[in-house]
Amino acid sequence: MSLRLCLLLAPLSLIGTALAAPSSRLLDERSDPSIQTCYEGEPTSLFCYNPPNGTPQDVEVDDVAFVAAYLRAYGAETRLGRLFSMAAADAPDCGEWSLYSRGTAMAVAKHVDNTVNTSVLFADIARTIDGGANATPEQKAGAIIGCLTSGGSLGVQVNTSAPAYTASSYPAGYVTSGIVVKIVWSGA
Ligand SMILES: *[C@@H]1O[C@H](CO)[C@@H](O)[C@H](O)[C@H]1NC(C)=O
Ligand SMILES: *[C@@H]1O[C@H](CO)[C@@H](O)[C@H](O)[C@H]1NC(C)=O
Repeated sequence: MSLRLCLLLAPLSLIGTALAAPSSRLLDERSDPSIQTCYEGEPTSLFCYNPPNGTPQDVEVDDVAFVAAYLRAYGAETRLGRLFSMAAADAPDCGEWSLYSRGTAMAVAKHVDNTVNTSVLFADIARTIDGGANATPEQKAGAIIGCLTSGGSLGVQVNTSAPAYTASSYPAGYVTSGIVVKIVWSGA
């Protein structure tokens, strides 16, 4: 249990290709204990990595904000918004794929339900991290960035009104549940 596995960072431009075949590397003891482990009923509510059940990641809040803004901008490059998909078969055993890293902070997507294939908007992943493009203090407090330097995890906050989810381009048979987003120490 002392080895914490996490996935090698892949440049965002390679999402959908490089991330289909993730490799592994070790993170040090600042990694949170749930990495690369399947838990019954993995929490999808906001969990900050604070003691006694979490290990503070010591990330810089500015880096967390940058990561979210980057993912939002990337997602906005297509008309309906770009989707991030994790098929159950590609992410066995609650596999984690790194999304983007900046400075001290890395965003990770963890597939927590092996009974579904999941596809969500990058915009929703970004809002899960920072509460929204122009988030109020309350919205920030309810997002992962509300964990401040500790980092944390939260199930993707899905905007069910977004047209991307009802468009014909949304992958057949996929659902919006099943992904938890985490902010962890990047190792930098
Ligand atoms: C996920 O999608 C694959 C094809 O991409 C399909 O074979 C599989 O049955 C799907 N799994 C679930 C749980 O829907
Ligand atoms: C959800 O999507 C709708 C339709 O695109 C948009 O008007 C609304 O602002 C979005 N809400 C959030 C919280 O992003």
